[in-house]
Amino acid sequence: MDSDSSTRNLFDLSGRVALVTGGNRGLGRALALALAEAGAAVAILARDEAKNRETLALLQARGARALARKTDLADRPQVAAAFAAVERELGPLDILVNNAGFAILKGVLDQTDEEWDQVLETNLTAAFRLARMAARSMAARGRGGKIINVSSIAGNFGTPIFPSYAVAKGGLQQLTRCLALELAPHHIQVNSLLPGWFTTDMTDWIRNWPEYAEALKEMIQRTPRGRFGDPGELAGAAVFLASRASDHMTGADLVIDGGFSVR
Ligand SMILES: NC(=O)c1ccc[n+]([C@@H]2O[C@H](COP(=O)([O-])OP(=O)(O)OC[C@H]3O[C@@H](n4cnc5c(N)ncnc54)[C@H](OP(=O)(O)O)[C@@H]3O)[C@@H](O)[C@H]2O)c1
Repeated sequence: MDSDSSTRNLFDLSGRVALVTGGNRGLGRALALALAEAGAAVAILARDEAKNRETLALLQARGARALARKTDLADRPQVAAAFAAVERELGPLDILVNNAGFAILKGVLDQTDEEWDQVLETNLTAAFRLARMAARSMAARGRGGKIINVSSIAGNFGTPIFPSYAVAKGGLQQLTRCLALELAPHHIQVNSLLPGWFTTDMTDWIRNWPEYAEALKEMIQRTPRGRFGDPGELAGAAVFLASRASDHMTGADLVIDGGFSVR
């Protein structure tokens, strides 16, 4: 085998089964499509059925075995049922991407208990519960696996704009480190992917709302690359973290932010 084809094989996901939460739009869709293009069968879980169908068609157009299931990650019984359905229909899981997330733009002084719980449940607790389901399944089979937690550079900074989200993402990075230690003997690698600012629905407020025009200016000035990332610019990192190419990497934060965090 020449070195070129053996390098390519490192990134080959043929025969693997992947699950991407929030895979129906934004970054999750880009990650799901990239895993499918690398050869994996891909399941996506999200609430919007029209978007689910749209992304399912895109996955199938890439020749992937695929599944889209309407699931609210804040509904624990629904999540457990969805995980079981994915393994029943696509096979035992090899790759879990905890990507679904959302933020509430409210400081602590205005935040209600319900809003706090909702943000923590979707961004952090659902990821913990799915990682536990995935790890139990992977460990039982003894073939190892990959867990990718999509956190955010917001997990590394304080913020008065979306504190509950920043706390959830910081917690997700700690979950990554704890799982990396516990699951290493089972040959399961766990890493965090930390996007900076990307063009998705989630960043509509800073890109388009007039009251955040100054924040937008500062954000662009602070970013050495001088612009938002495009969702496709996360694709290579996701394939890397899901593949054999990253087998010696665990418990790490992979930052993709156009240089924003360096300054
Ligand atoms: N965009 C950025 O600049 C940026 C930066 C750093 C980190 N991130 C992180 O990247 C991930 C993806 O963000 P994005 O920018 O792609 O956001 P997005 O465009 O708003 O998409 C969010 C995704 O999460 C799903 N989701 C949200 N709440 C859910 C729930 N309760 N149950 C099931 N699915 C749910 C949504 O699907 P449904 O609404 O159909 O359920 C959608 O697929 C998030 O974890 C986010 O925190 C994004």
